[in-house]
Amino acid sequence: MAEKKGFPLLAVALDVTSLTEVREIVSRLPVGEVVFKVGKQLFVAQGPEAVRAIQSAGGRCLLDLKFYDIPHTVEMAVAEATRLGVWGMTLHALGGRRMLEAAKEAARKTAREKGVSVPYLFAVTIPTSMDASTLKEVGITTPLEVSVLHLADLAIRSGIDGVVASPLEATILRKALGPRFLIMTPGIRISEYPGDDQRRVASPTKALDAGADLLVMGRSILNTPNPEQTTRDILALLKNFSS
Ligand code: C5P
Repeated sequence: MAEKKGFPLLAVALDVTSLTEVREIVSRLPVGEVVFKVGKQLFVAQGPEAVRAIQSAGGRCLLDLKFYDIPHTVEMAVAEATRLGVWGMTLHALGGRRMLEAAKEAARKTAREKGVSVPYLFAVTIPTSMDASTLKEVGITTPLEVSVLHLADLAIRSGIDGVVASPLEATILRKALGPRFLIMTPGIRISEYPGDDQRRVASPTKALDAGADLLVMGRSILNTPNPEQTTRDILALLKNFSS
């Protein structure tokens, strides 16, 4: 794991629909120690109010909308998200250098104008739901691992702060690209999850060992009988491991 002082180790995925659920979850978890991930489901249902609900409880928001569009459109979307005061956001490396650079510049410029911190930008390389055959369907025949490395390198060279990667990819990315960027890792499990749709999973400590900086966890925290205790247990485990 790269040394990043004060950087949160855990993002809790708020894959819910209502603001009542958001407020309930945020009020029970240690707001200062985690970030809350707002994805497409919640944002489509509630819009910026979801972000504000987190912020008004003192929490930080990771806006996971995975922007991918022409550079100008992404630039404007990143500027608006920065105005909202999000802690970080996601976008697709496949958008290319111009889109990535426009996003970074918009984040910097808007943060400066608003007097807020520059949000972290994380790039998705190849979505972890895609394998060689689904890539071939869309005309990409380069080996998956080569594409992931290529896109991660492009994102980093374009000023993006980090990448989203499976625990398996984290090992490969750290080895090939070194410590100069952040890795956010979903697909974390603390025990067997019934009917799991995540294909490549790892335990929290395995993910950190693989080079991850920020773990994304949703159902395996929120679906436990006591999410607050589960979060505290995971944080203790992570802090212990990374100290
Ligand atoms: O419930 P679970 O821990 O599987 O939630 C993982 C979260 O991370 C979900 O919000 C999911 O959309 C997101 N995610 C993922 N795999 C990726 C990128 C994001 O699971 N490659």
